[in-house]
Amino acid sequence: MSFHYQNGSLYAEDVSIMEIAQKVPTPFYLYSEQILRSQMRAFSDAAQKRLKSSLVCFAVKSNANPAIINVFSSMGAGADIVSEGELLLALKSGIPADKIVFSGVGKTREALTLAVEKEIKQINLESEEEAEMLNEIAAKADKKVRVAVRVNPDVDAHTHHKITTGKKENKFGVAWQEARPLYQRLAKTENLIPVGIDVHVGSQLLETEPFEEAFKRTAEIVHTLRSDGIRLQTIDIGGGLGVAYQKTDKPCSPDDYIAVVEEQLGDLECEIVFEPGRFLVAPAGVLVSRVVRVKHTPSKDFLVLDAGMNDLIRPAIYDAYHNIAAVKEKEATQTFDVVGPICESSDVFGKDRMLPAMRPDDLVVIETAGAYGSSMGSNYNFRPLCAEVLVSKERFAVIRQRQTFEEMLALNRPAPWL
Ligand code: LLP
Repeated sequence: MSFHYQNGSLYAEDVSIMEIAQKVPTPFYLYSEQILRSQMRAFSDAAQKRLKSSLVCFAVKSNANPAIINVFSSMGAGADIVSEGELLLALKSGIPADKIVFSGVGKTREALTLAVEKEIKQINLESEEEAEMLNEIAAKADKKVRVAVRVNPDVDAHTHHKITTGKKENKFGVAWQEARPLYQRLAKTENLIPVGIDVHVGSQLLETEPFEEAFKRTAEIVHTLRSDGIRLQTIDIGGGLGVAYQKTDKPCSPDDYIAVVEEQLGDLECEIVFEPGRFLVAPAGVLVSRVVRVKHTPSKDFLVLDAGMNDLIRPAIYDAYHNIAAVKEKEATQTFDVVGPICESSDVFGKDRMLPAMRPDDLVVIETAGAYGSSMGSNYNFRPLCAEVLVSKERFAVIRQRQTFEEMLALNRPAPWL
């Protein structure tokens, strides 16, 4: 049992959240190692069952804490990275370079140079211009670099418009119609070796159909390239598998999803690379927060928390739903708008939520917050980045301290003329 009520209060595995909150300042992210591991196992078991050769590369952007990355690297995962910082972080967190894939539409010269130097598994090219820059960098370093082309399959992911990536109007990838000539040019370069193809349609997909469409298109390109004499070895199919944020969400399972992969790509004799983020970490994390004030107004009752949109921005920017629960187990009798302290009307975690009667200092958790929670945190309103805690059975450890005000001030410098 991972997050559950015991003796009238919420526990993470075998540790009382109230007890942790006596030692760690709120708000903080709290992760269950057991859930991290069971999510990874569910994913990789399904992949191993259905595919001859596969690699799960954790999308570091979804959660950049080294201890979390470590859990996955200890289970054999690689990493999907999108910046120079994520490359350094993945290497530092125990991911071998030959299990790192690098995507992103704006990889800088510095980032590409580092990736070449570290000899990572594969660089996913998102434009011809990028291919030219990389070829030049590789030539200078006198290295042969393994690349894939990220194709834009022009498929509607049926997800929130801000997290859809595979439509032709999105900035990502190379139009699928232009992939073939680009591969032909890559095959003629001195320093780039086209080893793979890459496709990612979007995030938080609940159905298999958009995946199916994208994979079909990908398979067609792989076949066409074979007839041109270009034999790809890896098919990187990105991330995107959704999770249930509320009871009405019915995501497809890893097995449903990988069955589609098997059906569309299974007979191509290629290694399938996955880049899941959300599926692996979202259900494993909650944001623990304290009630600062219960504010009554003529139209609404507000539960004002010490967590704000700087700690968890998903509700504000994607209208994302996160369930909110009281740590003390009591009957839900009241309706609140649960809000943060930030000076923005969008700093709302949930509207009209049924909760027990609450008092200042009571604790709540905002659920399913392990992905794109902490990693999207900011210092807005000059608030420190919050702490992160990992629980494993009856143990817990602070895996990131709350930032101090000294640390927040340390990078500032006076303008000499003022
Ligand atoms: N690979 C690529 C190339 C990606 O762009 C992404 C996510 C992933 C893998 C991982 O996708 P996942 O398995 O986590 O769906 N901040 C948004 C999500 C943005 C996703 C960006 N790309 C949110 O909080 O919903």
